Amino acid sequence: MAMVRLAAGFVVYTSLGHILSSLAVILRTTDKIVWANEFEPIELTCLIESISTNNPRIEWKKIKNGVPSYVYFQNKIAGKQLGLSSARGPQHFRAGSQASKRSCMNGDLEHRAQLREPANILIFNTSRSDTAEYRCEVAAIDDQRDFDEILISLAVRVKPVVPRCSVPEAVTVGTSTELRCLENEGFPAPQYRWFHNNEELPQDPKNSHKFLNSSYSINPDTGGLKFRRVRKEDAGEYYCQAKNDAGHAQCPPQMMEVYDVDILGIFLKSFAAVAVFFCLAASICHSLKRGCFHKKGHNENNYNWPAQNDGVNYRDADEGHFRHKSSFII
Ligand SMILES: *[C@@H]1O[C@H](CO)[C@@H](O)[C@H](O)[C@H]1NC(C)=O
Ligand SMILES: *[C@@H]1O[C@H](CO)[C@@H](O)[C@H](O)[C@H]1NC(C)=O
Repeated sequence: MAMVRLAAGFVVYTSLGHILSSLAVILRTTDKIVWANEFEPIELTCLIESISTNNPRIEWKKIKNGVPSYVYFQNKIAGKQLGLSSARGPQHFRAGSQASKRSCMNGDLEHRAQLREPANILIFNTSRSDTAEYRCEVAAIDDQRDFDEILISLAVRVKPVVPRCSVPEAVTVGTSTELRCLENEGFPAPQYRWFHNNEELPQDPKNSHKFLNSSYSINPDTGGLKFRRVRKEDAGEYYCQAKNDAGHAQCPPQMMEVYDVDILGIFLKSFAAVAVFFCLAASICHSLKRGCFHKKGHNENNYNWPAQNDGVNYRDADEGHFRHKSSFII
């Protein structure tokens, strides 16, 4: 007897449950968090698990920074003019005007999307401005539970553009330096990799036989490539690549030269150069001076000597004459 009652109760309970659930609109989605690549199509699924109303009212809203705007409303994809203000009563006017402004700013889905059975929204050509939360709302007037909604968050991946790279043209051995790489368009934020003479630098030089002795470190999040002490072997062409799930881009290779500079060598070289200069200058000056005095001295002698010895000795005078002549010859 008790068994029969229990069984009857179970039957009543399950059938009641069945009736109740058949009188409720219940939504489901395959993905609550959806990623799409920019310029590619994506479908946001809004599956109706149960419903008894024939013509449910289906609406989609986009919520960006807490501000909602219509995506699908009154059986069509909402255009630019259609904000929440035109859809709801005056109490929603303020929010609506904000939303329509917002949707104008973001660009809406008119001509870029369509509703697909049962209540999915298909975006043909996603744009980065589509990154937002989307709410599928279904109102089923003949159901006991006559409303359900589901929230889907869409993130549109954006391919990185060519990053801006800064590579010093010349550095000296033993000094520290940093190469930088920056890219601002990519979403999610890209990871950075560096290449030296077309060969990727391993994240940690200790893990590679070739770069074992290099003192660099790479920050893949910021794009920095830091050398604690530059070596001769670090010279070469460098470029950086910014990469995320949507794609990658790289800057053109730039040359970094490494100069060997020792202070003592520079000092000695410049000292030697200065010394050579002075020696040269002094010797030129000295030889010029000597040349002048030598000539002058001869002339004095030649003019004075014959005068002094004029009447004394002809031979001497002759000699003087000869010298005079010879000095001219010289
Ligand atoms: C998608 O949109 C962009 C501009 O927003 C356009 O350049 C591109 O051709 C479109 N792609 C397709 C497949 O329609
Ligand atoms: C690294 O340095 C060590 C010792 O200075 C040397 O024996 C080795 O050949 C160097 N390795 C490379 C790859 O340059």
